Amino acid sequence: MQRFLDLADFSRDEVLELLELARRLELRPEPQALGGKVLGLLFMNPSLRTLASFQAGMARLGGSSFVITPGSGTWQVETRDGVVMDGSPAEHVREGIPVLASYCDALGVRSFADGRDLSADLGEQKFRLIASLVDKPLINLESAANHPCQALADWKTLDEIGVPRSGKFVLSWAYHPRALPLAVPAAAVHMAAQRGMEVVVLRPEGFALPDAIMDKARRAAALAGGSVRQTADRGAALAGAQVVYAKEWAATARYGDEAADAEARRGLRDWCLGESWFAGARADCRLMHCLPVRRNVAIADHLLDSPRSVVLRQAYNRLPAQMAVLYRLLKPAE
Ligand code: CP
Repeated sequence: MQRFLDLADFSRDEVLELLELARRLELRPEPQALGGKVLGLLFMNPSLRTLASFQAGMARLGGSSFVITPGSGTWQVETRDGVVMDGSPAEHVREGIPVLASYCDALGVRSFADGRDLSADLGEQKFRLIASLVDKPLINLESAANHPCQALADWKTLDEIGVPRSGKFVLSWAYHPRALPLAVPAAAVHMAAQRGMEVVVLRPEGFALPDAIMDKARRAAALAGGSVRQTADRGAALAGAQVVYAKEWAATARYGDEAADAEARRGLRDWCLGESWFAGARADCRLMHCLPVRRNVAIADHLLDSPRSVVLRQAYNRLPAQMAVLYRLLKPAE
């Protein structure tokens, strides 16, 4: 494996092999496997889980890591081409990225959506530029429209909690005061489709996932024997659900227009998930969320603290899932 940028780059069997490796490393740790290897981590945006789990995972495999957070002890970084750099950023990715890559054996990069131009964000314009500058193994730590590390950990969580391959997976929009990126919803829908599930996206009008995301998930579903659809009908979506994955995202019909987005989400405060949402779901239906989550805004306290919630398991699974990725990227062939 040379790069881990998108679960769609891997066949279903290759993902299953990675998950098997993650389970093996949990059961039989290999604390020297990556001795002498260095992972560089560039976070253009904040993180708790991704940063901590990659550093911990690298250490548990015998390697080491360094972290760069531009603007916080290091130079602010410019990602646009052709600009006159007379503002705050003093470093351009065209120099900064190759320099960082030259210090390490693999590089992980987090670079969120700009949230202004939907087609630029869906086309991963910024991340593609960054990727083109790296001549080492590269890991997507969350880009404009993808979060493959979260998706791999979520697949592992679904396996562990016994959700069948063909189970009903509902990705539900949840309220947030601001427009959040499409990376996690896109990755979650694709992951569940690639797993072979019945996938339903539940969202208010104006918040439909774009065709590019839905079509990609449908292609994965077709290969795996699953299905993908979206609806605004809460009762129909949640009926018989085995998993409800809550996530907040932008008003896609008004993408990039802050005032229109705020207007679109006005009156949607009741999209704060609580136990009542599960009335028509299966009794053992579980709640997922990638975290961080705003309590009593996106999900109510009583639901997050109930046995339905597997959000902490999802967060824990980032560690073994990413250890498997690091192992495949960096372990010398025997
Ligand atoms: N879920 C996730 O990626 O968490 P962080 O943003 O804290 O890394």
